[in-house]
Amino acid sequence: MTTIRPSMYFVQTWGCQMNERDSEIIAGMLDEMGMKQAVAPEEADLMVLNTCCVREKAEQKVYARIGELVKNKKANPDIFIVVCGCMVQQKGVPEHIARRFPEVNLILGTHNLYRLPELLKTAGNKGVLIEVLEDRPESFPDTLPVQTNKLKAKVNISFGCNNFCSYCIVPYVRGREVSRKPEAIIGEITHLAENGCKEVLLLGQNVNSYGNDNENYPDFSDLLLQVAAVEGIRRIRFMTSHPKGFSDKLIDTIAGCEKVCNHVHLPVQAGSTGVLKAMNRGYTRDQYLSLVERIKKNIPGVSLTSDIIVGFPGEKEEDFQNTLDLIRQVRFDSAYTFMYSPRRGTRAASLEDPVSPEVKRERLDRLMEVQNEISLELNREYVGRTVEVLLENRSERKDGRIVYSGRTCTNKIVSVENGENKDLMGQFVQVQITEAKTWSLKGRLV
Ligand code: 5AD
Ligand code: SF4
Repeated sequence: MTTIRPSMYFVQTWGCQMNERDSEIIAGMLDEMGMKQAVAPEEADLMVLNTCCVREKAEQKVYARIGELVKNKKANPDIFIVVCGCMVQQKGVPEHIARRFPEVNLILGTHNLYRLPELLKTAGNKGVLIEVLEDRPESFPDTLPVQTNKLKAKVNISFGCNNFCSYCIVPYVRGREVSRKPEAIIGEITHLAENGCKEVLLLGQNVNSYGNDNENYPDFSDLLLQVAAVEGIRRIRFMTSHPKGFSDKLIDTIAGCEKVCNHVHLPVQAGSTGVLKAMNRGYTRDQYLSLVERIKKNIPGVSLTSDIIVGFPGEKEEDFQNTLDLIRQVRFDSAYTFMYSPRRGTRAASLEDPVSPEVKRERLDRLMEVQNEISLELNREYVGRTVEVLLENRSERKDGRIVYSGRTCTNKIVSVENGENKDLMGQFVQVQITEAKTWSLKGRLV
């Protein structure tokens, strides 16, 4: 068997922040093996595709990309192709990829990602090696590579999900919910802070159920306080929160702890109680609205964002009107809006669905229109105000002007025009907002 030794790698990522974090882990492991990250995929002899399967579109993009790489491989047989991530955790998918693209070298599941270095050494350049586990092994390592040169870092606090929302594939491909040891989380964050990290994003499919699986662990509120005690960390973000089990204690903790950002990503998914029930979300429209009321009342200036699905099987015009009405009541700062996509193996996939794709498309357009209007109105309220921004990007415009950008505590993107002649990267600055757009703000340093 011929084995090749790649030296330059490129990781391409689809999907959510969890996948982005996994891609950092992959990059960290490959760096530790002595490989270098390529700036462009064309320069790499190892291509890692970290995939998503939450909607069909994501999967189609991955298949198209594998096809392209396989074509390149015909001209350059030394390219090593790894396909990993959520998509390959689905039953039958690894075998399907292997049959359709025998040029792929390695297919690796989400539960044994950490075996990549060892498998790269053994996988040959002939035949597809499939390494996918059904479940997360007990022995899953608690310390995985972190990139230490970062201002902002993502930190896993839990893996998997127990909610089984009827449309969602995540519990099937990421397994049951397991909280990470608090010492491992705090250890990682301390290490990051010692290396200059100022902001952490705590990641879990359902962060507010952190610790529910182990009575010796703190609950999510107490974990936030432990993270806040780490010296050097100035901002703590977290996602995703689930409306079910979002406690008053958590609201008080967010309100009371200055380091915890005033932003809650709280997916509502639908505005009609009937649809929420069919989605198995575990709350009614009224319960969601009352939670939002408590959050807004107790956390002044909080920003709320959401995920919303239109066209769930059997969603009637009246249900959809309820969703529009809910977003007008809540006034989310922004929302990710999706058209329902049936996922094989989920409960909703077997539901009858009389709603046509055209009707769904039209509902999605109407939803986005209403939401964009609200986003712009809320952003306009910022004009004239002075806010704290952590500057994380610096770019030079064609005319030579330097423009910095960063985010507010409420997660608004702000670009700052008058930063010339100063090195402001990584700094917290006060910015007066001068202009509002739908998805971002502009301002001047004060
Ligand atoms: N179809 C459309 N959207 C989905 N999401 C999850 N599963 C599906 C699906 N089958 C959306 C949900 C979730 C976000 C990450 O993706 O809104 O919160
Ligand atoms: Fe999917 Fe629901 Fe779990 Fe979110 S909470 S990952 S939507 S099953």
